[in-house]
Amino acid sequence: MIRFEQVSCEYEKGKKALDALNFEITEGESVGLIGANGAGKSTLMKALLGLLPHTGKITVDGLMVSGTNLKEIRKKTGLVLQNSDNQMFMPTVYEDMMFGLLNYGMSREEADKRVDEVLGQLGIKELKNQYNHKMSGGEKRMAAIAVVLAMNPETILMDEPTSALDPCNRRIVIRTICSLTQTRLIASHDLDLILDTCSRVILLSGGKIAADGPAQEILRDRELLEANRMELPLCLSGGYGTAHMNGLRGHSQFEDGTAGAGSEVSPISP
Ligand SMILES: Nc1ncnc2c1ncn2[C@@H]1O[C@H](COP(=O)(O)OP(=O)(O)OP(=O)(O)O)[C@@H](O)[C@H]1O
Ligand SMILES: [Mg+2]
Repeated sequence: MIRFEQVSCEYEKGKKALDALNFEITEGESVGLIGANGAGKSTLMKALLGLLPHTGKITVDGLMVSGTNLKEIRKKTGLVLQNSDNQMFMPTVYEDMMFGLLNYGMSREEADKRVDEVLGQLGIKELKNQYNHKMSGGEKRMAAIAVVLAMNPETILMDEPTSALDPCNRRIVIRTICSLTQTRLIASHDLDLILDTCSRVILLSGGKIAADGPAQEILRDRELLEANRMELPLCLSGGYGTAHMNGLRGHSQFEDGTAGAGSEVSPISP
């Protein structure tokens, strides 16, 4: 359970990036975090991991996000950063994935198996021994997702997981997110992705919560979205959306072109 009580954050004195946020996310929920550029999505995720100072109270499973709890909270919570260049710090994808697993006490044999399993599920086995600095933006994003999923954290935070991904990798990531049973918080401008993966949406505007409710309601509310510099998901916006989705299906490696249930990507578990 994640709980924010009157949480505020500021980078510069007097300029609130998060402004008195109150919400709870219960175990197993999949929540979309949406909002215009600068709304506070990345700030919220960083504050949740104790990477930024805040006022108010943030708890993860009853643990206050501060001081000596941070190690435990970061073990429970994996964050796919908006900028993948900041995610990887070992020379290769394999070494990055192994680092976390071995650090948390997994045997080398088990860790090797886990690495292969996750790379296989994401369809990126060929990236295993790739040097991080030699990958494309989308390859880095897929590798960053693999690093986080390999740890099998209880809560998964993803900040723009599909930006820079081609349609096929985007679809794999959507199916993977849907197959997870962990608590998930997904920040994205890709509202089709949010519709496919989340049952609830929190809409941020200027660091405040402008709406919090069922994804099916918020993502269909054209007026609310447009008032907050967003547009309806393409699949709900009429002809263009449908054509777009058909286009994606045409290029997808998957036959049915749908997301969620019936996923070819099997659930990721330890
Ligand atoms: N390192 C920083 N120093 C100063 N201000 C910052 C910093 N990072 C973010 N901000 C400010 O905090 C506010 C929230 O930024 P944040 O990155 O959380 O937005 P976001 O919703 O993630 O936007 P985007 O959709 O562009 O990723 C913005 O006004 C931004 O200018
Ligand atoms: Mg951001």
